Amino acid sequence: MSRYEEVKNQLKNAPKTWLVTGVAGFIGSNLLETLLLIDQKVVGLDNFATGHQHNLDEVKSEVTAEQWQNFSFIKGDIRNFASCQEALSKHDGNIDYVLHQAALGSVPRSIVDPILTNSANITGFVNMLTAAKEVKVKTFVYAASSSTYGDHPALPKVEDNIGKPLSPYAVTKYVNELYADVFHKTYGLNSTGLRYFNVFGKRQEPNGAYAAVIPKWTASMIDNQDLFINGDGETSRDFCFVENAVQANILAATADDSGKNHVYNIALGDRTTLNELFSSLALALSDNGVSYVKNSIYRDFRAGDVRHSQADISKAKDLLGYEPEYKIQQGIDKAMPWYIKFLTN
Ligand SMILES: NC(=O)c1ccc[n+]([C@@H]2O[C@H](COP(=O)([O-])OP(=O)(O)OC[C@H]3O[C@@H](n4cnc5c(N)ncnc54)[C@H](O)[C@@H]3O)[C@@H](O)[C@H]2O)c1
Repeated sequence: MSRYEEVKNQLKNAPKTWLVTGVAGFIGSNLLETLLLIDQKVVGLDNFATGHQHNLDEVKSEVTAEQWQNFSFIKGDIRNFASCQEALSKHDGNIDYVLHQAALGSVPRSIVDPILTNSANITGFVNMLTAAKEVKVKTFVYAASSSTYGDHPALPKVEDNIGKPLSPYAVTKYVNELYADVFHKTYGLNSTGLRYFNVFGKRQEPNGAYAAVIPKWTASMIDNQDLFINGDGETSRDFCFVENAVQANILAATADDSGKNHVYNIALGDRTTLNELFSSLALALSDNGVSYVKNSIYRDFRAGDVRHSQADISKAKDLLGYEPEYKIQQGIDKAMPWYIKFLTN
C-alpha cells in the first residue's frame, strides 16, 4: 500500500479538522472534494476573487449529504486579518492543518497589477501565518511556486538552487517561503511549502485573460477558435495533474517532524513542450468525439516566462512518500470529459 493510501485510511479512521483557503478555486476545491470524501471536517475561506460558487456546488454534488455537513464556508478576504482569525477560530480553534491556497495566481496579472498581487499574496499570507500560529496549528501547508526558480538555468530544478525571480508574482511566492521559515524560527510554527509546477485538471478556470494554458487551449479547441502558442512551441513545462497536488498536500500536512519545515517540488518530474501539449489535447478531444479543425498560431514569447521547467521530485518522494499517480496524458484524459461538459453546457 502506498504512503498516501495508508495516510488516507488513518485519516478516515481518525478524522481531522482542516482549513482550506482559496477553497472555491481550482486546487482548493479539489482539496475540499478529496478531504470530504475521506470524512474530514473542513473549514473553507475564500473571497471569490477568482474562485466560484459553482466549484463548491460541484463538490457538494460529488459527496454524500453527511460528508457535506462536515464543511463550513466563510466568505472572507485573507487581506483582512479578522477574517483569517475567524476562520481559524472555527471548531473552537481546534484546526489541525491549514492548506493555504488563496492567492492571486498568474505571472501576467502580477505584471499588470503588482500592488494587487502583493496584497493578496504577501499581506494575506502573513495574516494567515499569524492567525495560524496564534491557535498553534499542527502544520501550515502553503502553495509555493516553481516560478521561484526564476532565471536559474539548471534542469531539473532542485529545491536549493534558485535564481532571481522574473515577475512580481514570483517575488511574492518566494517571500512566502522566507516568511514561513522565519515564522518557524521565531514562533515555532511548522510549515511546508509546495512548489507547484503547472497544475491542471477539472475546475481550472478556462475563461479570462489570465487562464492557464491547458484550460485556455481546451476551451479554444472545443469552440473551434484560433489558438495561440507563445514563442516557437518548444517552451516546456512539468505539467502536474491536480490529484498529484492533492496527494502532496495531504502527505505534507500529516508528515512527521523530518518532513516538516521544508519546501518541496510538486510535479511529475517530466517535461512536455507546448507543441507536444497541443497534440495531447487534440488527441484527448478527438477520443471524446471533438475535432479541432483550426490551426495553432505562433506568436511572441510572453514576458516573464521561463523557457524550460522540470522538477526533480526526489525530495518529496524521500521525505513525504509522494508518488504522483497520474502522468500528463492520464491527467488530460481524466480532465477532458469535465471540460467538454463544462464548456458545452
Ligand atoms: N495552478 C497552478 O498551476 C499553480 C502553480 C503554482 C502555484 N499555484 C498556487 O496555488 C494556489 C491555488 O491556485 P489555483 O490554480 O487553484 O488558483 P485559483 O485562482 O483557482 O484559486 C485561488 C483561490 O484563492 C481565492 N483568493 C484569491 N485572493 C483571495 C483573498 N484575498 N482572500 C481570500 N481568497 C482569495 C480565489 O478566489 C480563488 O478561489 C495559489 O496560491 C497559486 O498561486 C498554482
